[in-house]
Amino acid sequence: MIQEIPARKLNPKKFIAEKVAEIQQAVGEGRAINALSGGVDSSTVTLLGHRALGKRLKTVFIENGLMREGEAQRVVSVFRKLGVKVEIVDARKEFFTALKGITDPEEKREAITQTFYRHVFGRIVRASGARFLLQGTILTDVDETVAGIKRQHNVFEQLGIHPEEAFGYRILEPLIQLRKDGVRMVGRALGLPAETFKRIPFPGPALAARVIGEATPERIETVRKATAIVERLLAKTGAFQYMAILHEDRVTGMRDGRRQFGQQIEVRCWDSVDARKATPTRLAFAMLEKLAREILRAVPDVVSVTYNIAPKPPSTIEAV
Ligand code: XMP
Repeated sequence: MIQEIPARKLNPKKFIAEKVAEIQQAVGEGRAINALSGGVDSSTVTLLGHRALGKRLKTVFIENGLMREGEAQRVVSVFRKLGVKVEIVDARKEFFTALKGITDPEEKREAITQTFYRHVFGRIVRASGARFLLQGTILTDVDETVAGIKRQHNVFEQLGIHPEEAFGYRILEPLIQLRKDGVRMVGRALGLPAETFKRIPFPGPALAARVIGEATPERIETVRKATAIVERLLAKTGAFQYMAILHEDRVTGMRDGRRQFGQQIEVRCWDSVDARKATPTRLAFAMLEKLAREILRAVPDVVSVTYNIAPKPPSTIEAV
């Protein structure tokens, strides 16, 4: 049973000191590795790990082909300013090969998990001689996985999987007692810039969680373009999370006087405190129209843009 630390009881300074000591004790004189995706959780773990281990922690950004526009460069530059070197590992081919032909959400998650932890990470860890992987699992990830709602890609022990036996390295999860609001407080106290600790959540399976059906390079590119528009236009709303989703079904539309059996983008924008419950943000209709206009103009082959108005539950935040 994991002991939750709610944000209102969290003392970030004390928490950081305790976790730094725990990481140092676990890793000893050895080395560790962590994968930075640029999100709040992995960014916070990266700084925590560097405070504990310094150069004995190697930080990599896995370019899986599923990230947001310009993400690798953005992450490298944010962390360079913080004095942390981030190495980019190009694994696009491996991820798209593993995702080929898969349409079921859980199978998609499993393909990403196996590619990430067994193949790509296994290789990096073996080459580096590290025995520990530091990662930013939070309590919400564990809850939903254990409840059988969604298999979050980074949860193992709670499912009876022992990473050391399965993958050959140990996983340390210093944020596991926190939820998103608590992680933001710790990230801020560690010196992350506001653009990072305030960043909206982004799922482990990345844009593959935003494509219903097969995640091909082309379909990911479509949702990536729509995501950039949604994130730009909704940045000032202060909403908990916002996203674009590419649907699998096509619908009849028309362009230049001709029938076009085109694609559908769904926009979601959520108000929430900790992602356990969420309600759609009451966006102004003029904003919805602007979203539609820009998506229809800039994302090829899209003829329909919808806005989700169902709360979580029974919806979930991500569509896959
Ligand atoms: P859901 O979609 O379960 O998401 O309501 C809850 C929060 O967790 C974030 N998140 C993930 N969601 N698979 C998911 O479905 C993942 O691996 C994952 N990682 C993080 C999600 O973006 C939302 O904030």
